[in-house]
Amino acid sequence: MSIKACVIGHPVVHSKSPLIHNYWIKQHDLDGNYEAVDISCEGLENGIRDLVEKDYRGFNVTIPHKESMMNLCDEIDETARQIGAVNTVVIDDGRLKGSNTDAFGFIENIRNEEPGFSFAAGSVVVLGSGGAAKAVVHGLLEHGVPEIFLVNRTKEKALILAESCLAPDKVSIVDWEERSKILEGAAMLVNTTSLGMDGQAALSLDFALLPRDALVTDIVYAPLHTELLKSAKSNGHKIVTGIGMLLHQARPAFKSWYGIMPEVSEELENMVRS
Ligand code: ATR
Repeated sequence: MSIKACVIGHPVVHSKSPLIHNYWIKQHDLDGNYEAVDISCEGLENGIRDLVEKDYRGFNVTIPHKESMMNLCDEIDETARQIGAVNTVVIDDGRLKGSNTDAFGFIENIRNEEPGFSFAAGSVVVLGSGGAAKAVVHGLLEHGVPEIFLVNRTKEKALILAESCLAPDKVSIVDWEERSKILEGAAMLVNTTSLGMDGQAALSLDFALLPRDALVTDIVYAPLHTELLKSAKSNGHKIVTGIGMLLHQARPAFKSWYGIMPEVSEELENMVRS
């Protein structure tokens, strides 16, 4: 029987997930199909019931349902619980099992692109405190980062994130206006805000205090080379683009439905970029 999976969101038409998962289904010669299913906030519960009735093996969850999905799962793994959001669901005998692969995706992207980078090397400055930031902070703390400076326009959100994260004592909150000053001595800078994304304002930042050997990464991947990454590169920093986080977060999700841990090939990366 064909194994069906999908991504649910609203809107979801621009999601790259169908392209990624159908590439792997074809690559591994599997009998399956992955599609995008638009489900509104009001229709979430019914929409999910519909997927269960139609014998879906599971689904990914994207904006705006990642947090709401927490209340609709029968089981939630430790990582998703800690992050406070579910991005992957397996349907097992009608039971919904939620997990979150975003932190894995973030870490794997850095590991693949900059294998020499040590997470224990020094402090990390994280810009933003939305859903993506929660996963990034989780991944960083899990991988031994000694200290995180969390910088967000809305300070209250940064405080809430810090309080509920894996190691609150390792996270300090910094005012948005101080973001350039806090770069002094950091080993890594991560942008998790939507600034720099196509159609959004650019992120203004002064790199003067960031050590030359610090790594700069952006989770925005459209455009691939954001203004932040271009400036970082021209200032001599190593950079990692955001496309790999999207690709790597998909791998454990695919494995949970199809039983194979797929790899990220250059061909797939080029397909997703174009
Ligand atoms: P995601 O789930 O992708 O992280 P989100 O939860 O909407 O998306 O979070 C967006 C992040 O970008 C937030 O940290 C947001 O800051 P606020 O918490 O103050 O809203 C940040 N952001 C968006 N527009 C911004 C802007 N113009 N200036 C500064 N930060 C901005």
